[in-house]
Amino acid sequence: MRHRYVWHTIERLTQLGWHCIDDYIWHKKTSMPGFWPTRLRDGWEYLFHLAKTKRPYVNHEAVKVPMAASSQRRIQRIRLNEYAPRLSATGSGFRRAMRAWIGKTHVLPDNVLHFSPEARNKGHPAVYPIALPRFFIQLLTKPGDLVVDPFAGSGTTGIAALQLKRRCLLIDNHYPYCVLAAQRIQKEAGTGPEGLLFSPMTAAALSSLASEHPSNAYCGPLA
Ligand SMILES: C[S@@+](CC[C@H](N)C(=O)[O-])C[C@H]1O[C@@H](n2cnc3c(N)ncnc32)[C@H](O)[C@@H]1O
Repeated sequence: MRHRYVWHTIERLTQLGWHCIDDYIWHKKTSMPGFWPTRLRDGWEYLFHLAKTKRPYVNHEAVKVPMAASSQRRIQRIRLNEYAPRLSATGSGFRRAMRAWIGKTHVLPDNVLHFSPEARNKGHPAVYPIALPRFFIQLLTKPGDLVVDPFAGSGTTGIAALQLKRRCLLIDNHYPYCVLAAQRIQKEAGTGPEGLLFSPMTAAALSSLASEHPSNAYCGPLA
């Protein structure tokens, strides 16, 4: 059976005042083979964007993708009578103006993300592909921002953040995973020992770390 704890968490967070900005689907392009008596193979996961404000920072430009060749061909064939806004032929009531597409080369991706799961263990059983945190860090943060992952595991989020010139704060309640994350950060993000502060995350440390320590990366177990 599929547990509903994710839904319970989202409901509780909205009761606490968080805004649900969007629900994304991560389509696992190569899903795990197997057999489950009452259901099929797991091919996707939800990703939730919650924010403390209704209009959080979003950088659409950072994630735009090249326009499909078929759309480019369609734009070449825009007729004069299509320049002005007109109602969609589907009868939905939506208006569109083909002239808005002239000169465009890139468009927004949709909210279904197609990434293969990480195939290697990397010392942790649930490492996700780095493309996943990369996408959201580019979309939702600016260089220099602090990216926090309270369930950091092997530290993939931190590596993505540092590669994209953000800072990161990684927490995991399993000490060996914090050590692993720190090792991966030094190896895969090229952060030297001086750029990484490894410390238990006490409440006091959490509130002062980011502002007072010159490191780019903070990593440690829950105190
Ligand atoms: C799915 S894994 C994250 C894997 C990570 N995305 C990666 O790529 O390596 C979730 C992690 O959350 C940690 N965890 C579970 N409950 C926690 C808690 N209450 N506080 C902090 N960490 C927790 C687990 O030890 C585990 O490493």
